[in-house]
Amino acid sequence: WQRSLVPDSYDMAAMGYPDDGGGPPGHGHAGGLSVTDLTGPSGPADVSVALTARREGAGYTLNHVSPGPEIRARQGQLVEVRLVNESVPDGVTLHWHGVDVPNAEDGVAGVTQDAVPRGGSHVYRFVVRDAGTYWYHSHQVGHEQVRLGLFGALVVTPAPAPQPGFDADPVVAVHTYGGRRTVNGRPGVGHLAARPGVSVRARVINTDAGPIRVWVSGAAYRVEAVDGRDVHEPTPVSDTAVLVTAGGRIDVAFTVPDTGARVEVGAGTALVVGPGPDAPATAQPRATLDLLGYGTPAPLGFDPAKATRVFRYEVGRRPGFLDGRPGLWWTVNGHLFPDLPMFMVTTGDVVRMTIANTSGEVHPMHLHGHHAVVLSRNGAAATGSPWWVDSLDVGDDETYEIAFVADNPGIWVDHCHNLQHAAEGLLAHLAYH
Ligand code: C2O
Ligand code: CU
Repeated sequence: WQRSLVPDSYDMAAMGYPDDGGGPPGHGHAGGLSVTDLTGPSGPADVSVALTARREGAGYTLNHVSPGPEIRARQGQLVEVRLVNESVPDGVTLHWHGVDVPNAEDGVAGVTQDAVPRGGSHVYRFVVRDAGTYWYHSHQVGHEQVRLGLFGALVVTPAPAPQPGFDADPVVAVHTYGGRRTVNGRPGVGHLAARPGVSVRARVINTDAGPIRVWVSGAAYRVEAVDGRDVHEPTPVSDTAVLVTAGGRIDVAFTVPDTGARVEVGAGTALVVGPGPDAPATAQPRATLDLLGYGTPAPLGFDPAKATRVFRYEVGRRPGFLDGRPGLWWTVNGHLFPDLPMFMVTTGDVVRMTIANTSGEVHPMHLHGHHAVVLSRNGAAATGSPWWVDSLDVGDDETYEIAFVADNPGIWVDHCHNLQHAAEGLLAHLAYH
């Protein structure tokens, strides 16, 4: 096994995986599942991309740039990405953050594949079933490789194209390189030329380790989507920021005013959308939008009251040993990695999961392969649009209840997207049997 973002002591067999050989799905079998349940489709690709990972200077690039090339596909298309590792010493993978791909395409080193060594290559194939804003990043020593540049945006537009109701839908990928916050790889203020009156859907992606506050100066805006899922009937807000979870995405929609608008991501960093290269900035709003009550209710497509699995996931912290190193490590239900509970489900299960955090820090919890809906926070039920997430900030002393349908067989990681925390053991598994 190559090193992944999980600690070196990681050993699937020792964790009691249903696959007796300890091998990843797609290489063997997992319980009653067949390999074809877990792998990507065959046939010609609609979108083909070649990405070459390199070590350049103090960082990493894909096709010589960071962020890597933006990948765009239409809903329902088959995407094929050929990854070549030219010079990343630790090996590299690509994970399609937020895209519910077949398990074998998930790009998690040590779980769904070995990291691609220098000189090696790997082909990913998957159909993008859900329109939305996503991103891709290395899932090998992720806490270093993502920070140092191995990521890019992935946008899936609704079928049929073009995006209904929007004239432009720019990506606003936020990343901090060496202490400087950037948008699409550039510090300061970027510009997208747009005439007044044009409707814009800005796709904000938080590739950093902590939450960022985002707002629009110069125009009221709607939160159109969260983590690639549209908000049902969002209402416009102004003088209000919205929090983008680490790893999460927020699409903000607005109409370009005469003087232009700024999509602000903090620290003087913004994307100006308007006729000129700058637009008036407003002070950072004090209010923060609460997504628990935003938009209007709509059917979920399943009934969380009829749960067939109920899990509790308590995040804490205590001293112990990880990989033989003494330290203060994260715990799940009191256990230190790798002695963590594995959440076992069967295809078709309705899963309710409580995530409680008493660890003293915020944890942006990210579940692979699934979208979950937020049911409640600290006992208060959600009252707005279904709030679908793949990345959810759970603050200290907060308790969330989420629910999802187990409809994507395989072995999936569920971890903190402050990737340093994941490397410090804040990672569990959801496994189908
Ligand atoms: Cu965006 Cu497991 O990662
Ligand atoms: Cu964390």
